[in-house]
Amino acid sequence: MHTALEREHLGGTLAPFSGVPGAAVLNPSDLALVKLGQDLKKRGYQFTTITPASHDRVNARPAKPQTSLADIFGWSHIFAAAHISAQDLARLATAGALEFIGAAYRSSVRFSTLGDQLFAHSAFPTEQSDAVFFGPDTYRFIRFIQQSWGTMKHAPSRRLRVLDVGTGTGILAIAAAKLVPEARVEACDTDEAAVAIARENAEANGVAEKINFRVGSVDDSTPSADLVCANLTADVISQMLQTLVSLSCGKLILSGILETQIELVQSGLHACGIDDFEVAQDGEWVALII
Ligand SMILES: C[S@@+](CC[C@H](N)C(=O)[O-])C[C@H]1O[C@@H](n2cnc3c(N)ncnc32)[C@H](O)[C@@H]1O
Repeated sequence: MHTALEREHLGGTLAPFSGVPGAAVLNPSDLALVKLGQDLKKRGYQFTTITPASHDRVNARPAKPQTSLADIFGWSHIFAAAHISAQDLARLATAGALEFIGAAYRSSVRFSTLGDQLFAHSAFPTEQSDAVFFGPDTYRFIRFIQQSWGTMKHAPSRRLRVLDVGTGTGILAIAAAKLVPEARVEACDTDEAAVAIARENAEANGVAEKINFRVGSVDDSTPSADLVCANLTADVISQMLQTLVSLSCGKLILSGILETQIELVQSGLHACGIDDFEVAQDGEWVALII
């Protein structure tokens, strides 16, 4: 185990992270998804993920005469070969993301957009245990982080360091790499499928070489960072709170907490000796800033 000072030092070298930047590890199936995403971007594809209940309501409406790219790649509708280009179909197949429903098809991957960025994640409904998460809370989280950038402080002598714990689609890490190109961005997730998709998303958004993704979590040997973000769930946050607090040498942003769970996380913070923190809230969504 390293001391805090050693971790600070190691933090500047990438040493403890064995993950290889995204571009180097993409196989033909990953690349097919990246190309599909890049092409959708070029064609002006836009889709905003809404809550599962709202998605269900939209899907219950009568079918439109035409099937759009958003129907196929956003609403996760079944489609026929005539509704998609041969190249898109081939890329979905190569990516292992083409489901066969009788004579029709469905994409097992969904693409959502945030400004000019595009993120692949699991198709609707996300019922499988290994589904890669992206939802309205992701947008809230990222909007909040983007607003917080201005208040980030770090030693001007070195690069800003960002650590995204539970990266999912990689959205925060990708936003950080775009916003602060000189930042050193690390991201991890215990879900291998999420890390694979996060790498693809980083590649599709042109920042693969700026982010170090890895499968796994954080512990006391993880290098500290100026901004540590964890959009997890309240129970997972509570279990790893001490570690998350110790890894932050600037700001720690905890999210994925529901209004009814604030007290659980707050009491954990008090137990870590932290009484001074902000609470940001949007409906039942809550973030704690330490
Ligand atoms: C709610 S999703 C959020 C994903 C992403 N941060 C976002 O905002 O869209 C939580 C993610 O944390 C991952 N996760 C759960 N426990 C974890 C842990 N102990 N360490 C790292 N990642 C974890 C899950 O696999 C999942 O991808």
